[in-house]
Amino acid sequence: MALRNILQEEDPILRGKCYEVTIFNDHLGVLLDDLKETMFAADGVGLAAPQVGIPKRLCVVCVDGETMYELVNPVIVKTAGTQKGIEGCLSIPGKHGIVERPKTVWVEAKDRFGKPCKYKVSDLTAVAFCHEIDHLDGTLFIDKIISESK
Ligand code: CO
Repeated sequence: MALRNILQEEDPILRGKCYEVTIFNDHLGVLLDDLKETMFAADGVGLAAPQVGIPKRLCVVCVDGETMYELVNPVIVKTAGTQKGIEGCLSIPGKHGIVERPKTVWVEAKDRFGKPCKYKVSDLTAVAFCHEIDHLDGTLFIDKIISESK
């Protein structure tokens, strides 16, 4: 495993649409492990592949320090409710703002072996899923801020 360099806001890779993962091999596993290690080292709760310069549709999320989600080709298939909360991003240090997100999301994805997985998550985990999945389409939370915060 290795720490990867986290790209910052001005990098164009963060604004591109990422490619579907089609090959589930050891390289994918290494990338997922590196994303986790890099996320924890940076004290984040989620990290998407484009943030480390890889324009592919995968991300990791761990909000509580224990439950780790690895999402490959994730798709939000259903949402319910709304919530507003403060967000930040490892690619935009020092910036925070209030964003409205679904309260609950249903997501279909693949695991690192290509096996289909379904998730239903709420609250902060739903925020993190939405934030990271947005990264895969070149969307940053600053695009969705409804009010600034300190
Ligand atoms: Co982010």
